[in-house]
Amino acid sequence: MISFAKSGKEVNASSEQSILEVAEAEGIEIPSNCRSGNCGTCKQKLRLGEVEYQSEPNALSDSEKEQGFILTCISHPVGRVAIDA
Ligand code: FES
Repeated sequence: MISFAKSGKEVNASSEQSILEVAEAEGIEIPSNCRSGNCGTCKQKLRLGEVEYQSEPNALSDSEKEQGFILTCISHPVGRVAIDA
């Protein structure tokens, strides 16, 4: 389950889809560009839960990681998550 706080949507999602893909399928706009973890355009704040990355989130600094930012293009939900978008 992914909760999108600003959009007020809750979506059942499998861990096979990235959070960005799930958002797009629901019509929730998250800006994106490289879709491979390198540019940072798709960065969002994770409010709850955990994500798994399929490749290194190169565009996130250590302090951004500590603040809970994720790259939605390459992150997959682990159980229930909530993000700002
Ligand atoms: S779209 Fe470039 S890091 Fe996600």
